[in-house]
Formats: sequence, structure tokens, C-alpha cells
Amino acid sequence: MALWGEIVRISVVGLGYVGLVTAVGFAKWGHQVTGVEADKERLLALLSGSVPFFEPHLAGLVRSECASGRLRFAASTREGINRAQLVFTAVGTDDGHGGWQTDTMSVCLEEVVPSIADDAALVVRSTLPPDFVRRMPTLVNAIRVSAGKPDVPVFLNPEFTREGQALQDFLTPERVVIGIGDDPSGKGTTLLKRAYKSANAPILEMGAVDACFAKLGANLFLATKISFANELAALCDAHGADINSVVGAMALDSRIGGKFLRAGIGFGGSCLPHQVTMTAEERVAADVGTPLMQAVRRVNDEQPQRLVDRLRAILGGTLAGKSIAMLGLTFKPETDDVREAPALRVAEILLSQGADIVAYDPMVGARSRAQAIVPGLRVAASARAALTGADAAALVTEWREFLELDWTEAAEWMKTPAIVDGRNALDPAEMLRCGFRYAAFGRRIDLDGTSPHRSFRIEPTTIATKAPRGNGLPVAVT
Ligand code: UDX
Repeated sequence: MALWGEIVRISVVGLGYVGLVTAVGFAKWGHQVTGVEADKERLLALLSGSVPFFEPHLAGLVRSECASGRLRFAASTREGINRAQLVFTAVGTDDGHGGWQTDTMSVCLEEVVPSIADDAALVVRSTLPPDFVRRMPTLVNAIRVSAGKPDVPVFLNPEFTREGQALQDFLTPERVVIGIGDDPSGKGTTLLKRAYKSANAPILEMGAVDACFAKLGANLFLATKISFANELAALCDAHGADINSVVGAMALDSRIGGKFLRAGIGFGGSCLPHQVTMTAEERVAADVGTPLMQAVRRVNDEQPQRLVDRLRAILGGTLAGKSIAMLGLTFKPETDDVREAPALRVAEILLSQGADIVAYDPMVGARSRAQAIVPGLRVAASARAALTGADAAALVTEWREFLELDWTEAAEWMKTPAIVDGRNALDPAEMLRCGFRYAAFGRRIDLDGTSPHRSFRIEPTTIATKAPRGNGLPVAVT
């Protein structure tokens, strides 16, 4: 918690996901924060203590920080920022079709920059393309000059927050990156470091374009790890090896580590797919070949089809007329976000092949958004309702609710207990014991569920099955 002399007056313009987490986080550290939001409906919701999207603990913290007096909201930019020492901007820069656009940021700068106090600094928090970041100090300076005001320091301060863990990532970050666009006196840098003092993390100072690449590089590397794991899982499938054992051994090599190597239906969300695509399409830098990112994207794009192939195999070769229970719609648990969620692609492919889908996700909002994106998708209000009468299930988001489901009971609800585990999240042996036919990504299925070293050949889309409550003799079908 900031001590009296360390408190910084901060304004955050744009209270979407990134902006709100930033505002609440700084308030929690004891700074005086004003959040500025032009959208009246969103502002009213925030004033009444509710948050227009799901993020664990965020709404509670908004309410308690408002009650403490450290966080307040304003509709007018001028009123909201004129006393601030640091003005953060966090407007969206996604064009809504998977591309990048900078118009929102340009408009925001036109509006915000003239009202920044002469001794304050501008801190851009949004994810922007490097060429815009490079031009930003000149752009800001031109706006200041035409407003008849002196220049202000300009920074890019990228966020590394994961949806579902955004507050924790903000409050206990592994690093803080301060990208200096323009700060000849160093005063802005000192203020920004003071604002982040409670983070107790390494604070890295670098150029603004370096900071832009520090964020991009992190996301591209995480995406590469996932696609690598997915390709490795396919190789494991071909030889009956188990990806979990393989990754477990790799992870103990400190040069590699085990995170982001979980195979499954691939990555989604607002960051990883977008940044991989922008790089693969040479929109980060024209005429610089990016074959690695093209491959990362191709592997990821193929994963939903791989899940559908496993479903078809588990159903005996046909999807037409089959009823599939889809468990999960969001791109990962603990969020209501369905942007670029692999579930939607899986649903589209299944529907195009004549299957009937009933999807369930614990997030009501995710269900309605998914239905708006995928015509023909039916949704249920519970896992049980989705599973009842289904020919097979697909686990696409590893919500705790699904991992803790009583699968023995679930087998009774279904017409035929069969499941494709798109997140390698369930225990195969346990699923077999519950009477399921089970398939996943690169996981050796020990058909009797007891001998981890038992060797047998398993084909890429081999499914483990045990005659349900029958003679106990396992069979592998391809
Ligand atoms: C990501 C970055 O992690 C974060 O630092 C950045 O600021 C924003 O983008 P987020 O999009 O919230 O965060 O999700 P993340 O937890 O990174 O997961 C992305 C996707 O990868 C999810 O769909 C997840 O299911 C998938 N994933 C993750 C895997 O398929 N395998 C893994 O091993 C890890």
C-alpha cells in the first residue's frame, strides 16, 4: 500500500477490461484513481457497483475501492484527467474482425492530450502495432503544440494480464515494462515507477517500441508453445506415447519449463490468435517473412477439426443425425469471453456435418453470445440437460464444474457414454471406469486403467473403450 508521500493521482481513460483492471489495481495499492468512461450505460453500471463483464473478484473490488474513496468515475475526459499526474489510456484497438486498428487510439489522443496537466505524463496501455508506437511521441507532441501547451512525457506500458486472473496478474506481476517514448527529464519515469512500487516486481525500462515487442514476443512465444505441444501430441498419438508423461519429463529441463504445453483444441481469446495472425500476415512488419507464426497459426486452426475427427471416430464413423453435448463455450475457464473460442469453430464444423449440438457453459452470457455467432447452436441450462440423451460429448472448456462432474451418473444420462476430451483435462482411466469410450490428444489410454507401462499401439484417432459394465474386456477401435 502506497505511503502518504508516494500516492500518485492517476486517471485511466477507457474502462473496458484492461482499463478497469488497471484503475482498480492502482486504487488497491493506495493511489487516487479516476476512471473515465464515455459510454453512459457502462458508466452507470460501474457507478452502481456492477461490472459489464465477468472477471473473478473485480466487481467486489470496484465496490470496495469506491467505498474507500480511492476510486471514482467520471464521464467527462477533461474533468476526469485535469488533476492527474499520470494519464493512462486503455481504449480497444481490435477492429472486431481479427485485425488491428489505431483509429480509436488516435481519436482518444486528440481528446485526451490537450487536457493533460503540463507536469503530468501520458501512459498508453493498449496493445498497438509497432509503427504506431514509433510515431506516438511525435503525434502527441503535435497535439500539444496545436493546443498551445508544452510537451508531456509519453510511455507505452503493456499489460500482461490473463483473463480470469487479471487482478492477480496486475497486483503481483512477474515484471513491469516501462516503454519510454519521450521523457527527456526522466520525471515521468520516476512517477510511473512510484505508481508501480507496490508491485514488488522487476521494473524494466526500455524504448517504447521495445516494450511493444516485449508484449508481442511474450504472446507469440506462448502461442508457439501451445502449437508445439499440439504437434507433439499428434506425434505421440502415432506411436502410443503419452503427451503428459513426455511434457512432464521436458518440464524438468529448466531451459524449457512445463507451462503452456498442454495439448488440446488450441488457443483462443482476444490476444494470442490476434497477435499470431497479425504477425503471420506480415502486418507487424511488411516484407519480413514469418514462417514460424504461419505454422503456429496453421496448427492451431487445425485443432478443432482434429476434435471433430475424434468425435466421428468415437461415433463409429458418422456425425450426421448424432446428438453431441458440448461442454464449455468460452475460450478458457473463469471468463465469459467467447472471442476466437475454439468451441465455436467446433460447433460450426459439427453443424455443417449434420450433427445436432446442445452446448452448455456455466456463463449464461457466453451461451447467448455463442448462439448469436453460430446459427443453429442449441444451448442448455445445465451440464445434465446437455448430456441427457446425447450420443457423445465433447469437453471444450475445462471448467471445474465439468472436472468434478459425477461421470458415472453422467454415463447414465447419455444415450451412449462417449467423450472426446478437448483439453486433456479428465483422467482417462477414471473415464473408462465410469463406462465411457474416451479419446483425447496424445494421451495413451491404458485400457485397463491400471498399468501405465502396458504397451500397445494406438492409432492417431484411436478411442479407448471398455464394454460398459460388460465382460470387462477392453477393446480399441479406430
Ligand atoms: C493471454 C496472455 O497469457 C496474457 O499475458 C496477455 O496479456 C493476454 O493474452 P489470455 O488470452 O487471457 O492471456 O489467456 P491465456 O491464459 O494465455 O490462454 C490463451 C489460450 O491458450 C486459451 O484458449 C487456453 O485454453 C489456451 N492454452 C493455454 C492451451 O491450449 N494450452 C496451454 O497449455 C495453455
